[in-house]
Parts: sequence; C-alpha cells; structure tokens
Amino acid sequence: MDTAPTNPSPAGPVTAVIVVAAGSGQRLGYGMPKAKVPLGGDTILTHALRGVAAAGIAQQICVAIPPGDSELQALCEAFTQEIAALHRRTAASGRGVPVPLVTVVDGGASRAESVRAAMAALLPAVDSVLVHDAARALAPESVFHRVVAALGAGAAAVIPVIPVVDTVKTVEATTGDGVALAPEVVTGTAAREFLRAVQTPQGFARDILQRAHEAAAGFDADRAALVTDDAMLVELLGVPVHAVRGASQSLKITTPLDLILAEGLLEGPLGARWVEG
Ligand code: CTP
Ligand code: MG
Repeated sequence: MDTAPTNPSPAGPVTAVIVVAAGSGQRLGYGMPKAKVPLGGDTILTHALRGVAAAGIAQQICVAIPPGDSELQALCEAFTQEIAALHRRTAASGRGVPVPLVTVVDGGASRAESVRAAMAALLPAVDSVLVHDAARALAPESVFHRVVAALGAGAAAVIPVIPVVDTVKTVEATTGDGVALAPEVVTGTAAREFLRAVQTPQGFARDILQRAHEAAAGFDADRAALVTDDAMLVELLGVPVHAVRGASQSLKITTPLDLILAEGLLEGPLGARWVEG
C-alpha cells in the first residue's frame, strides 16, 4: 500500500524510518502480535507511527508487520489516511507538513530479518535510515531530532542512550560445591559510569546499514540470535557509533509491567510523550 509523497525534498537528505513491528510479543503474553495490543485507546503500532509522523523527519515510513497480517495492514492504511488528512488541514492553514510515503512489508523470523525486508523496500533516493522498534511506542519527537541532527552533522551511525541506574554485574553458572548455595556466581562488576542502556530510533547512513546487514545475513542461527540491535552490526564493521541522549518514555514495551507504565504515561498528569526532552 503506497501513496505518493507530496514533498520529497530532493535538495536535502532523504530520510526513511523503518518501524519494525513483526514480532509476536511472547513476553507481553497477549496472544497476539505486540503491534496490535491496545494502548491508550489505540494500538501500540498506531502510537509508534504517530510518533514518527509527529517528528516530521521522514520522507518514507516503512513498516514491517507479521507476514500476511491483514489487520495490521489495515491499521497502516488508516494511518496513511490520517496523515494525509492532517496534511490537507495544515496545508490549508499554511503550515504544510510533508506527507511521508508509507510502505508496508512482510517482516521476517528475526528482528534483523524484518529490518532487511524493510531496507529492500526503501526509495532509491533515501540516504539516511532510522530503525525504530514499534514496541518503543512513546519515543518523543526530540529523540528523533537528536538522532537526525547527529546524522546531519556527519555521523554514520547514531544511537539514543540513557544512563544505567542499576549496578551491573557479570555472572556464570555455579559449579562444584557452590551449586548448593545459589544458581549463579558473580564474575565481575562493570563500571557503571561507562554503561548506557540503548534505545531506538537508531540512525545510519544507508550504505553503512546496508553493509552491516549484508554481513549479518550470513550468520548461523546461534550468532543471529545474539543480534539485538542494528548498531552492534555496524560496530562489527569498525564504523564508530555515536550516542545521543535518549528518553525514559522510549521504554520498550516488553512485559505486562511495561504496558502498565506506558498506559500511565498516556493517562498521567505529565501528559504522555511530550514531557521529557
Ligand atoms: N520484531 C520484528 N520482527 C521480528 C521480531 C521482532 O519486527 N521477527 C520487532 C518487534 O515487533 C518489536 C522490536 O522488533 O517492535 C523489538 O522486539 P521485541 O521487543 O523482542 O518484540 P517481540 O519479538 O514482539 O516480543 P517477544 O520477544 O517478547 O516475542
Ligand atoms: Mg523479540
């Protein structure tokens, strides 16, 4: 389902946002793909897409959904109509916002495969790509802007991060006499000042992301299972990955507790996604 972009801004950088929404949501436990799970009267995917559109940085939004999911296909169609209507209203008032092309693709068996399926559907003119988890449905506009600003300043790879609040230790399975005491034993403590929790949207020069994923496409199943974000594939190329400030509202809705937090953000006195820089 495609609609022609009304403002492809050919002079500047052409940015696409890939929204990966093809996961099954096992840990949330709703018995349906996580993208469809209700959040604040809509769905997780609708909130994620509105956040991308509100940031106003994308000439194309490419959504990876579970293969053949007609409900999510229809949801993306409704979103396309919604942003087209918004464009007509803002154009009439002289505050025209660009309407991104919305493309929907079948995702893959892993997150990385879903990203690759979406990359194959990007417009030829796209030169910067942001990859965003639909599960981070409340990521604020400001984070998109910081990532795009760093790309514009010349970074080839940019991730939003937040400081880690817990002390983080490495462990291994207990062996020998220790088994009677506890299942694991500590092997070290990481220096927290250098630790960051990593979020999305992650931004890349298109050719760098392409190369990173071409290398990963050949991973065996064990190695592929260790790939949890796109930046780690870029790190393997030896390309520097830059970090900008993320936001606590960008939490990844993974467990039932996360969904309660996200509902609370939408309903609470702080006013949803717009409160924190
Ligand atoms: N994702 C995807 N394709 C996959 C797996 C994941 O597009 N084959 C997306 C999810 O839809 C989500 C993001 O990657 O937006 C992060 O994944 P995660 O939070 O793990 O979501 P799920 O895989 O759906 O959840 P779970 O692992 O609990 O099943
Ligand atoms: Mg998953």
